[in-house]
Amino acid sequence: MRSLFFLASLGLVAAENGLDGWLRYASLPCSHECQSKLPASIVVLNATKTSPIYVAGSEIQDGLKSIYGSHAQISKSQCKTSSSVVVGTVEQYRKACGSLSEIPELAEDGFWLSIDGRKIRILGSTERGALYGAFEYLSMLAQGNFSTVSYATSPSAPIRWVNQWDNMDGRIERGYGGPSIFFNNGAIVDDLTRVKQYARLLASIRINAVVVNNVNANATLLTPDNLKGLGRIADVFRPYGIQVGISLNFASPEDLGGLDTFDPLDPSVISWWSNITEQVYQHVPDMAGYLVKADSEGQPGPQTYNRTLSEGANLFAKAVQPYGGIVMFRAFVYNKLNESNWTADRANAAVDFFKDLDGEFDENVVVQIKYGPIDFQVREPASPLFANLFNTSTAIELQVTQEYLGQQSHLVYLPPLWKTILDFDLRVDGKSSLVRDVYTGKRFNRKLGGSAAVVNVGTNTTWLGSHLAMSNLYAYGRLAWNPADDATTMLQDWIRLTFGLDQTVLSTITKMSMESWPAYEGYSGNLGIQTLTDILYTHYGPNPASQDNNGWGQWTRADHNGIGMDRTVSNGTGFSGQYPDELATIYENIDSTPDDLLLWFHHVNYTYQLHSGKTVIQHFYDAHYTGAATAQTFRTQWASLEGKIDDGRYNHVLRRLDYQSGHSIIWRDAINNFYHNLSGIPDTAKRVNHHPWRIEAESMKLDGYKPYTVSPFETASGPVAIVTASNTTVGTATTKINFASGTYDLAVNYYDIFGGQSQWQVYLNDKQVGEWVGNSEDVYSHTPSIYLDGHSAIRIKFRGVKVKKGDTLKIVGRPDGVEPAPLDYVSFLPEGVVD
Ligand code: GCU
Repeated sequence: MRSLFFLASLGLVAAENGLDGWLRYASLPCSHECQSKLPASIVVLNATKTSPIYVAGSEIQDGLKSIYGSHAQISKSQCKTSSSVVVGTVEQYRKACGSLSEIPELAEDGFWLSIDGRKIRILGSTERGALYGAFEYLSMLAQGNFSTVSYATSPSAPIRWVNQWDNMDGRIERGYGGPSIFFNNGAIVDDLTRVKQYARLLASIRINAVVVNNVNANATLLTPDNLKGLGRIADVFRPYGIQVGISLNFASPEDLGGLDTFDPLDPSVISWWSNITEQVYQHVPDMAGYLVKADSEGQPGPQTYNRTLSEGANLFAKAVQPYGGIVMFRAFVYNKLNESNWTADRANAAVDFFKDLDGEFDENVVVQIKYGPIDFQVREPASPLFANLFNTSTAIELQVTQEYLGQQSHLVYLPPLWKTILDFDLRVDGKSSLVRDVYTGKRFNRKLGGSAAVVNVGTNTTWLGSHLAMSNLYAYGRLAWNPADDATTMLQDWIRLTFGLDQTVLSTITKMSMESWPAYEGYSGNLGIQTLTDILYTHYGPNPASQDNNGWGQWTRADHNGIGMDRTVSNGTGFSGQYPDELATIYENIDSTPDDLLLWFHHVNYTYQLHSGKTVIQHFYDAHYTGAATAQTFRTQWASLEGKIDDGRYNHVLRRLDYQSGHSIIWRDAINNFYHNLSGIPDTAKRVNHHPWRIEAESMKLDGYKPYTVSPFETASGPVAIVTASNTTVGTATTKINFASGTYDLAVNYYDIFGGQSQWQVYLNDKQVGEWVGNSEDVYSHTPSIYLDGHSAIRIKFRGVKVKKGDTLKIVGRPDGVEPAPLDYVSFLPEGVVD
């Protein structure tokens, strides 16, 4: 503590690595008011060290000490009520301290928080509810909020889960924050310290279960040794009120059990699952349940035996039912399609597979539905399956890990996107039917229901790969509790907890974050055409052509004349007919379809005029320029916070925003070039394919470098790059500068591929003005690429370079490994010019 005060008095901020996320309990000054409101003791109404109540007491003790330097003793069970925090369940309180009339009815896991000066009572309907209340109190303390309050809050729904897509070998599918905190080399890791830290973060946002392994599940999690390990994981989560769940592989009876079938109706299969479930519960008596992906993307399922999906789900439901477990059965079920028939629409799959099974699922089955009909795209309509299941419990599946949305190397604050779905009114039977009222069980009167998010934290101290991405995890928990919560309010609590109370910090990060999803949509896929990432490879950089001409069904049907999927009933795939009448009518009709979903529902010419008055193609061009221009400001906005944020996190974020500013331009140009080339329609503002400040590498004088045709073509300017003649030849590219003398930002676009660390130097008249190393695969979180493409394309900028007309620019590239020091172009950007 002393060293912290010492640093603070020098005006320095100690470097932080992000490990504590929003629970850092940073030191704050304690005013007179604060002094008068700090409790002297903490009474825990359950003194068992592994109980959530005890954990709550310790957290409060740590928080008070860390934030305000104040020491509060933890005492056990004596019911002091003045100058103390009392934390326990309502039941424990009544026993220890007598009746309390003022507490309103609480749902399971709800809590009542009463703060009156130094008298603080935190009472949960369950122990974990009390722990949530303790974190709420701490959140107030950490934000310098000493208000007198007395209120109760209850969760919107009982299921508030996170899913980790961790593999047994320690890799994480679509994970961008390093390897698994749970698994390594086929087994559970010995040291579960990170699991405990994760538990703490999750409990503070009121998550009550975590599925620890990938939905593409490996049956070896069920071996005796691994079940023991699972028991250890559950023991770490339990004091935080978090239950463990696991993903199952449908074929386990055959793969692991040695049976010759995995038919869900076969008695030997049924008894195999019932035995294994008994063993699971021996090690994890409070196991939350099973998560099942079946008959999708190559995963085995009941359809192998002509059994229905509900027969498959009920097999597990019956196995876990005696233990109070539930089955989260994923609605993400689809088959690869024959691309020669465009009306065979993948978007139809969920309703096609599940609608007729409504009412066929056991009571402890919850159908887990991705927010949109395809797959976590930058914009999708709400999944119509929410409007087709009335006698089946549902949960919404969101994605915190930014698989299609910048993989944590781009800032994208997701709640504004999620809210387009959560708050969407499906108008079932002409009545208000908000998606959030459907999955929380209110609309169709279901007891079960809630939310699951694919999170995929890893061992990186930032958890997700970037400090700013943690706002998405924080807000996810808040929305799972209360889906009506406001995107800005949640964000601002997170900012204060994560970066402190400075007003400029607050307003700057708020602005950047709130602009980030619209910007990303601007420079990626517009008007409901999907994100346009490379869906056949890393799901990261641009590759619009990858959507079409394959069986994955993420089609755009783009050709020389037009673009968009016709999903009408009258003329297309019939998807719009999966919505209740009021909506079906809106989407069926091109005039009433909102612009931002136009291409999801209709196939139109590029010259089709939007409600906005622009043509589709001009909208693409403009949105890409505006989106990338906004992304340039994130770096500048963040840079204005220098000195207000510790160097560790400041520099980490700055580097990512710098990268994003460059990659947003790569996105912008790739998408614009692609559709410009396809449609042949010029940009009315004459920006596309017109870059007056660029010098193409292939047009420079090359020595040891040779031209290279990049694929996809639109991810290179020109559209050609240069690479060294061999992997040992040093390449030089030279040119005379014809721009007017002045000060420029020098941007160099190059490719940084996996499997080598090339080095580059830039000289002006033999004076070095910059150098860098191709090590981005070790720096950024996104999946690297082994090709020159839209994933490996990257820009570096050297600011404030003084140039005289006629100077000689020389770039020297030294290849390394398989990386041939590739270069695309350089730009000399006068102040204010984005390029
Ligand atoms: C996406 C993702 C896969 C994942 C799948 C799922 O398709 O790319 O990695 O397995 O979703 O949700 O099951």
